[in-house]
Amino acid sequence: MGLDLNYINGQPPIDEDEKEGLLIETIATNSELNEFEQLNIEEALQWVFGRKFKAQEVFRDQFIRDLHKQMFGDVWAWAGKFRKTNKNIGIENYQIPVALKVLCDDALFWMNDDTYPPEEIAIRFKHRIVSIHCFPNGNGRHSRLMGDIIIEKIYGHEPFSWGAGNIVEAGKTRADYLAALRAADQGDYTPLLAFSRS
Ligand SMILES: Nc1ncnc2c1ncn2[C@@H]1O[C@H](COP(=O)(O)OP(=O)(O)O)[C@@H](O)[C@H]1O
Ligand SMILES: [Mg+2]
Repeated sequence: MGLDLNYINGQPPIDEDEKEGLLIETIATNSELNEFEQLNIEEALQWVFGRKFKAQEVFRDQFIRDLHKQMFGDVWAWAGKFRKTNKNIGIENYQIPVALKVLCDDALFWMNDDTYPPEEIAIRFKHRIVSIHCFPNGNGRHSRLMGDIIIEKIYGHEPFSWGAGNIVEAGKTRADYLAALRAADQGDYTPLLAFSRS
């Protein structure tokens, strides 16, 4: 297949085994892939925003996998299944289930304890989950939707604007986003908090 998915623009490559999971045979370029994924994500948004969610449901690996499947299941056979390969972002693949459980438990604790304001709980969760990198692809988009679900469905606040530009393609919005993620990697969440509402 002619897809050249090298590590550019903060995106790890999709390896050959994973490419075999592509369900739409006509996809030949990255931009076609993005378009099909985007159509699928729009269906997932309908599913999400027509529903109510409780924190105990959202902060569970079942929900996290279901959401990824809703977003990418028309395009990728492995949607909703944890990564079996290692990437240049994310932890060792065998550690994913435990790390995700710890993150979910931490998030429930932050909520019950009011450890951080709601925005910061959503943003810390978003950054921790994309840093675990549960899936072969789509982790960035999935982590942002998780952040939106936390802030909107659990706390009843406005969804995030995430820079209000094109965050998927290369450009200023994407560059600002990646810089904010790198600051969060160092423990400074201020840029990502600001970006999420810009
Ligand atoms: N330094 C970083 N720290 C945390 N997350 C990062 C970093 N660099 C990139 N990312 C996130 O990882 C994503 C790439 O993973 P990928 O699974 O390809 O998701 P997507 O296809 O939705 O972009 C980026 O879009 C970004 O959200
Ligand atoms: Mg990607």
